[in-house]
Amino acid sequence: MNRPTTAERLAGKTTSPPPGTSAVAPDAASLLYGMAEPPPFPELNIFPLEWRVETPKLQALYDKSRDPGWAPNLLPWDTLEPSAFTVDQRYALAYWFTLLSVFDGSGPAVFARAFIHTWETHEEDPVRKCFFSIVRDEVNHEEICQRAIQALVPKGPLDYVPETPLGKLAQNNVRWMYHNGCRYWSGFKGSIGKWPLPILFTSFLMGEIASSTLFHGMYQATSIPVFKECFRRVGQDEARHMGICLTVLENILPKLTDEQRAVITKQIRAGFIFLSGILYLPPKEFWELGPTFHASHLLLEDVARSAGLGILTAEERKENWRNAVLRMKGLIEPHGIEFPALPEIGVDGKTVAFDPSEIIPVF
Ligand SMILES: [Fe+2]
Ligand SMILES: [Fe+2]
Repeated sequence: MNRPTTAERLAGKTTSPPPGTSAVAPDAASLLYGMAEPPPFPELNIFPLEWRVETPKLQALYDKSRDPGWAPNLLPWDTLEPSAFTVDQRYALAYWFTLLSVFDGSGPAVFARAFIHTWETHEEDPVRKCFFSIVRDEVNHEEICQRAIQALVPKGPLDYVPETPLGKLAQNNVRWMYHNGCRYWSGFKGSIGKWPLPILFTSFLMGEIASSTLFHGMYQATSIPVFKECFRRVGQDEARHMGICLTVLENILPKLTDEQRAVITKQIRAGFIFLSGILYLPPKEFWELGPTFHASHLLLEDVARSAGLGILTAEERKENWRNAVLRMKGLIEPHGIEFPALPEIGVDGKTVAFDPSEIIPVF
């Protein structure tokens, strides 16, 4: 028997191609006959994979926000000299930034959740991108709280050992505030899928109006240089967020149903109660606070004010909050939305029930 040639040996080692492949690729036209579609995409999937621009103004707002023009690590922190303050002043200053972090510290998670929702609901591309910029800004705002607290009270706000009675009161108040922040998060998560965008955005607008008002006032009042710069920058960001919310609302407010209008009235009352925790005084509705909270809070605010933080007086804050709320009223009333009564700051309107599990403003 003849020995196999090299060519025959090699040929013996070849295997058949797997089914469906062939040396000659089938042409596209013939493949079309065998093509099948996948099942329909489920609702709320996260792949818009299209980039509709329905509101060019939002695209322009996003372009403006790409570079916020500042960064928390580049602010003049080296000018903040903790030893220039008494121990109690340090506790009181850190206390206020901790109070702020119930709102601004929850911002990243709260807006990130809303951001995901804009993908689930396949919002137009600039809405999704604007939310991305807001998440980024909120991470910066949260870092301001972090840096201020840790510069003044290392291991604050929870893990330091207070040396004075006021420090102990501050820490107890902080725990009560966070208790409420956690309750807000439970309600917020449930609201995101529950309400249509017009309702979410009206609530967001309430938060943005509140925050830009607060930071503008404190920017003018503080005498501590690094905080002045913080409030200026954060205030600018918040004004941009407000512009984004207003632009989205210009599109959707004219198309509301009666039912949505009624929900918005209730939501504004809920937003007022929640945001009053930082803008004015925390109302008993929603805010569950310990027996010494209010008296300690006033003491701590006085001490922080004496240190130059720029906390406005209760009367000034009431006036600012009232003006901000009236701005909100002017924006939404032309769209047939009744404004709720806010007797705490002397605003007349419709008396509405309050449900603490349905608070959705963001700061
Ligand atoms: Fe913020
Ligand atoms: Fe904001």
